[in-house]
Amino acid sequence: MKHLLSIEKLPQADLEKILTAAAVMKRERGAHQLQPLAGQTWALIFSKSSTRTRVSFEVGVSELGGRPMFLSAADIQLGRGEPIKDTARVMARMLHGAVFRTFAQRDVEEFAQFSGIPTINALTDEEHPCQILADIFTVQEKRGNIAGKVIAFVGDGACNVPVSWMFAAAKLGFELRLAAPKQFQPDAALLRRAGGKIVCTEDLKAAAEGADVLYTDVWVSMGKEAESAERLKALAGYQINESLVKLAKPGALVMHCLPAYRGREIDADTFEANAQTIFDQAENRLHVQKAILTWTVS
Ligand code: CP
Ligand code: NVA
Repeated sequence: MKHLLSIEKLPQADLEKILTAAAVMKRERGAHQLQPLAGQTWALIFSKSSTRTRVSFEVGVSELGGRPMFLSAADIQLGRGEPIKDTARVMARMLHGAVFRTFAQRDVEEFAQFSGIPTINALTDEEHPCQILADIFTVQEKRGNIAGKVIAFVGDGACNVPVSWMFAAAKLGFELRLAAPKQFQPDAALLRRAGGKIVCTEDLKAAAEGADVLYTDVWVSMGKEAESAERLKALAGYQINESLVKLAKPGALVMHCLPAYRGREIDADTFEANAQTIFDQAENRLHVQKAILTWTVS
């Protein structure tokens, strides 16, 4: 049984297999005959908001011959406290796979364990593996092999997106620089688990110097709204803007997982100047997730 629960637990060979298959999915969209999910129904269980992940999985499951069933956690008994392990065992009797967006990573892992059907992490507080696979695919599509490149992340360096980037760094051999205030840097234990070449710094200019990619994410992740005031204050200045882009390698990619908050983690002009890359990145969620779905049932 194959699950995509985290980049941390995804073997390097499978990671590479998914990236290779994603290129075929993109190239042959609309023309390929692959229907690996024919006759299957997949649940999309979401405890948090989503635009990209929901749409790309609904479209992706359909294009692979399956039927997506969107379930807002608030509308099913899970939202009223039914245990994950009971939800998982019920769903396993009726469904063929599940895509789960929630808060705790352990909940997605428990779902996978008790359901025994392919389970995909569609974002937790700890990781966002589908996003990072699409991001790596985008870098490689535009700039070739990511090995040896420098990815500079600016902003909340301890949230799900940078953490998934961290676990990819050692597997694919790129350098990751995380520019964040001390309290928004990943802790030492997490850094040890990730291994690889990861530099944490409060100095965003040093992080951007000569980088191949400048990347950012929201300052206030879903579930952290109560900390908004404190985060906006601490993260002020950790922004991708024209002066930061000038420090990066000429032609550096500017990337954002979206949704973007202009004037916070990125300024409006820099966002628009890099919209082509950013929306290619969003589109690539579809192609990469079709590769992930196919991999789980192969
Ligand atoms: N980047 C991303 O996962 O977007 P959504 O929250 O809209 O799914
Ligand atoms: N770190 C963000 C990612 C959104 C796609 C969040 O968790 O809200």
